[in-house]
Amino acid sequence: MTAHPMTARPTDALTGTVRLPGDKSISHRALMLGALACGETTVDGLLEGEDVLCTAAAMRALGAEIERDEAGRWHVWGRGIGGLSEPADVIDMGNSGTGARLLLGILASHPLTAVLTGDASLRSRPMARVTDPLSACGARFIAREGGRLPVTVMGSRDPLPLDYELPVPSAQVKSAVLLAGLNAPGETRVVEREATRDHSERMLAYFGASLRLNEIALEDGTAREIVLTGQPELTGRPVEVPADPSSAAFPLVAALLLPGSEVRLPGVGMNPQRNGLVTTLQEMGGDIVIENAREVGGEPVADLLVRGSALHGVTVPAERAPSMIDEYPVLAMAAAAAEGRTVMEGLAELRVKESDRLAAVARGLALCGLAVEEGPDSLVVDGVRGRPPGGNNQPIETELDHRIAMSFLVLGMASERPVQIDDATPIATSFPDFTALMQGLGAQLGDV
Ligand code: S3P
Repeated sequence: MTAHPMTARPTDALTGTVRLPGDKSISHRALMLGALACGETTVDGLLEGEDVLCTAAAMRALGAEIERDEAGRWHVWGRGIGGLSEPADVIDMGNSGTGARLLLGILASHPLTAVLTGDASLRSRPMARVTDPLSACGARFIAREGGRLPVTVMGSRDPLPLDYELPVPSAQVKSAVLLAGLNAPGETRVVEREATRDHSERMLAYFGASLRLNEIALEDGTAREIVLTGQPELTGRPVEVPADPSSAAFPLVAALLLPGSEVRLPGVGMNPQRNGLVTTLQEMGGDIVIENAREVGGEPVADLLVRGSALHGVTVPAERAPSMIDEYPVLAMAAAAAEGRTVMEGLAELRVKESDRLAAVARGLALCGLAVEEGPDSLVVDGVRGRPPGGNNQPIETELDHRIAMSFLVLGMASERPVQIDDATPIATSFPDFTALMQGLGAQLGDV
C-alpha cells in the first residue's frame, strides 16, 4: 500500500460528541467464539477495521459462515467446538497480533494443517510466547527464526488440556491457551500474576463455557487462576460491542490538551483491566467526568465528558501497565504538554507491539523538541507546561503502527508548530474514521 503522509497543525478547542468504533479486542473474540459456537451469533458495533476484517476472513476460511448486514452489524453461524475445517490457502492476519495469537490457540486443538502469515510488522513479532505453551497440547509448529510468522500449525488430533503460568502479562497468551483448551477434554488452567484484560473469560462464560476464577496464593504473592472445563457446548449469542477505550484515548487526550475543549465520548468500555489511562490522566489533573456507568453485553461501559485541563507530571507505577498497555504512546504526548516530569515504568512489553513503541515514542518526541529518557523498560518525559515545540523537520516514522501514527497527530494538534508523520494508512487497522471524526471536533489534520 502507498504511504500516506499526514500533518497535524496547531488546533484550538475541540468540541462535540464522538461516535467511537467498537472495541478491537472484543470484536476479534466475538467473531472467533461465534465461529466456535453452535447456531447464530449476531454482533452489533463490530469494529470494521482491517485487523478485525482479517479475523473475519480467517474464520470464513476455516468454515464459519459470516455475513455483514449493515455497518457494524454482523452475523456468524458457527461450526461448534472442534468443527472448523482445514483452510485451502495461507491465512493472512495482516497487522494483528491479537488475531494471529488467538487463532493459533484455536488451531492448536483442531486436527488440521494451516499456515499463518501477516504484514512486515506482524512477521517481526514473537509468536513463541504462544506456540511454546500450545505445543504441550500435542500441536506442532514450524516457524521462522525466533518463532516468527509465517508459522505452519499442525493441530492436535487428541488435544491435551494445558496448565500454564504466564511468564509475561499477556491477555493474548492467556486467551490462546484458553481457546486451545476448548477442544481438549478435562480442565485447562492458566495462572496470571498480573491481571490482564479478561474479555475472553467474560465472553466464554457468556457463550456457555464453564469457567472458575480463583485468587490463589503463590510462594511470593497472589495470582489469578482461570480454570476452563473443556469441550463445552458453546451457543451463539447476541454480542453488543462497547466503544474501544484504546481508540477513545486519542480524542480524550487531545481534548485535555486543548484549552476550552469539551468533548463527549459515549459508551466507552470501562473494563477495570483497560482503564488505567483514565485513572492516570485524572491523577495528572485531567477533567474527565464518568457518567451513566452501566453494563453492555457483560462489559462495564460509561459516557465520558472531557474538558481542556492543565496537566501535571506523575509517576505511573509498573503494576498499572497491563491496564493501559496500548495507551502509553498517547499518554507520553499528554506528558509532553504537562507541567513537570512524568515517569512511566514497567514498559518492557511495549517493545514487542506493532512496533517497538518505547523507542518509537522516545525518538519521535525528541524530533519534536522534547527532553525524554528511554530506559530498557521505562520512559521519562519532561513536560513543557503548555504547547510543546513540534515542528519536526523529519517526519515521524510510524513503522506500520496505528497507535504511533495517531499519538503524534494528537501531539501536532497541541504543539506550537505542525507535526508530520510519514504514513497514516496503519490507522485503518483500528480506527478507520479517525481523521474525519477528529476533524469533526475541530482538529486541524490534513495532507502534508
Ligand atoms: C490484546 C492484548 C494486548 C494488547 C493488544 C490486544 C488482546 O496484548 O496490547 O492490543 O486483545 O488480548 P498482549 O496480550 O500481548 O499484552
